[in-house]
Amino acid sequence: MPATLLAIESSCDETSAAVIRDGAVASLVIASQKEHSAWGGVMPELASRSHVRAIAPTITEALSNAGTTPAELSAVAVTTQPGLIGSLLVGVNAAKGMAAALGIPLIGVHHIEAHLLSVLIDTPQAEFPWLSLVVSGGHTLLYVVRAADDFQLLGSTRDDAAGEAFDKGAKMLGLGYPGGPLVDQHARNGNRTAHTFPRGLLSPTTHDFSFSGLKTALRYFLRDRFPDQIPTGQDLADICASYQEAIVETLVEKTIRAAAAHGLRRVSVVGGVSANSRLKQRMEQECNKHGLANYIIKPIHGTDNAAMIGIAGWHKFLAGNFSPLSVTARASTIRADRHGTVRVKG
Ligand code: KG4
Ligand code: ZN
Repeated sequence: MPATLLAIESSCDETSAAVIRDGAVASLVIASQKEHSAWGGVMPELASRSHVRAIAPTITEALSNAGTTPAELSAVAVTTQPGLIGSLLVGVNAAKGMAAALGIPLIGVHHIEAHLLSVLIDTPQAEFPWLSLVVSGGHTLLYVVRAADDFQLLGSTRDDAAGEAFDKGAKMLGLGYPGGPLVDQHARNGNRTAHTFPRGLLSPTTHDFSFSGLKTALRYFLRDRFPDQIPTGQDLADICASYQEAIVETLVEKTIRAAAAHGLRRVSVVGGVSANSRLKQRMEQECNKHGLANYIIKPIHGTDNAAMIGIAGWHKFLAGNFSPLSVTARASTIRADRHGTVRVKG
């Protein structure tokens, strides 16, 4: 069916719009909010205001890059949950306004389901079912993706998300926010076996994750070994490499084990942390060793983006699964940390 979809994502701190034409991504624009770095986490009020400023120009740019106009659109897809309520509402209201004005269907998309289906952007021929590890600043989840509308949750984090473990570790090491990419960068020059940090919940009885013990271990390690100053140079590189290894080893081992437990032959890693170079390397090695297909996504499709909302929306469009104009944004669970910044739990 020839059709053109506009997709909108605004659940956290990225304002993004994409155009999907006949199931393929025709354009993708992501406006990332920089103002949160000074706070060491996402400030909800700043995020909402920034979405309000960015939403119209982002949509206009996505339409223009795809060489299309609002009049040519067949439907509008938008993230309705989970996320920061003030942020979600900006995208949801923009989408509702366009759908009503243009007289086209509205398609509400679940943000996590979109992450799971983001695999189809870079690997359209991906075969169901596959095991998906969702790793971002807010989520650490293991899902079986059985079909475009059939997802089974196997495990999730009991405390911090993997990206949060990277970011909080980076903060203790005096690196900026978000710290994941910086830990990754410093770790490249470091010795992964220089220090041993704990691997949480590695027992085979659960598919859940836990990273808070690791974070505490780093805090005590720094207090004892570097009481007077933050480590620099080779010390910093070795700590980053060892800390990263603890996170990566846990993620990879639990993923491979879950694939075996559920007889799955295909694996994917999605979400912002999927860009981590060591995670990519170790997952590839273990998939090769166990004869598993490894569906890899581009980093731009790992971070929050509207292309994944569009792909998830496309499947709903084909199924005629539309939402009423009365659909509402849902925040799901939000937990504030000590600094008043928040993490969105999916
Ligand atoms: O999916 P995402 O863009 O936003 C959320 O929904 O949270 O993920 C952002 C998270 C941050 O915690 C960031 O530190 C982490 O992904 N991240 C990385 C890397 N790139 C981004 N963590 C480790 N290594 C990376 N290369
Ligand atoms: Zn996300």
